[in-house]
Amino acid sequence: MSSFPERRLRRTRRTPAMRRLSTEHHLAAAQLVLPVFVKEGIDAAQPIASMPGVLQHPLEDIAAVVTDAAEAGVGGIMLFGVPAVRDAAGSGAVAEDGILNRAIRVAADAARGRITVQADLCLDEFTDHGHCGLLAADGSVDNDATLEVYARMALAQARAGAEILGLSGMMDGQVAVIRRALDEAGHAEVALLAYSAKYASAYYGPFRDAVESTLQGDRRTYQLDPANGREGVAEAMQDIAEGADYVMVKPAGPYLDVLSRVSEVSTVPVWAYQVSGEYAMIELAARAGAIDRERTIGESLLGIRRAGADVILTYWAREVADWIRAGKDLA
Ligand code: PBG
Repeated sequence: MSSFPERRLRRTRRTPAMRRLSTEHHLAAAQLVLPVFVKEGIDAAQPIASMPGVLQHPLEDIAAVVTDAAEAGVGGIMLFGVPAVRDAAGSGAVAEDGILNRAIRVAADAARGRITVQADLCLDEFTDHGHCGLLAADGSVDNDATLEVYARMALAQARAGAEILGLSGMMDGQVAVIRRALDEAGHAEVALLAYSAKYASAYYGPFRDAVESTLQGDRRTYQLDPANGREGVAEAMQDIAEGADYVMVKPAGPYLDVLSRVSEVSTVPVWAYQVSGEYAMIELAARAGAIDRERTIGESLLGIRRAGADVILTYWAREVADWIRAGKDLA
């Protein structure tokens, strides 16, 4: 008599050791990148109401934040500036003594090659209207005029010591223009991370708090429509053709299908950004007692990895690095 069922898939799940043997995906601390907010004109770190556990740091904290992340084995830090003053042109982004450029200098100094120093390259933190580019007379975002500012911003960041520039503005041609500007100025070594498939997402909500930016209108003329998957793949292919060293899908969790499609065709490493809203949802649900905080964090990160991310930007990078080092199960 033949036994039923013939194929017993539970066999390989029977014990922890059996399960460890067939774990398909792992996370390494070196593949996590920690976003860090640096605020001008404060002398102590300040909490961000919608992102419990995340801080706005004074410049004076940055060396310690970098050293601590490096010692924990985190792969990189991505710096975001919160300037004291904003204007229509986003001048603080290109100024050598702008808060972001100053923070890059301090971070590069503290990193000493142990962790990669990355910077957000976009104007929204520096403009008073909150858009990622310059506005034309009719109020639209002027693509080509913005590219000129991005090129200057890239040079300022490279001079300050950034190793990877995070191109998050979604202007057409930004990768090619920035690559050329860097190469002509002798910064061929600086790598470009293209936020290729960046969606016009409500999940960036808490980030507005973090950088204290208010947006006039919306970003739908440059960021992607959440209904579109194929277009995200097209953006990634275009950025690779323009010279991107890495491409990114953002947000991560709600766009795992796009991440999976991009990772299947990309010829460069694929990154995913688990954004502020994804962070806030888990933190706040856990505080309400609705979910197990650590298991949910681990599961969310493994899902992003499974979908094809080589590198993950996450506000939990520092904490999860400790879990990984301690050999804790992530889900
Ligand atoms: C642009 C930028 C944004 C985020 C990262 N880079 C905001 C936006 O494009 O609206 C959002 C990240 C997050 O929500 O965690 N400077």
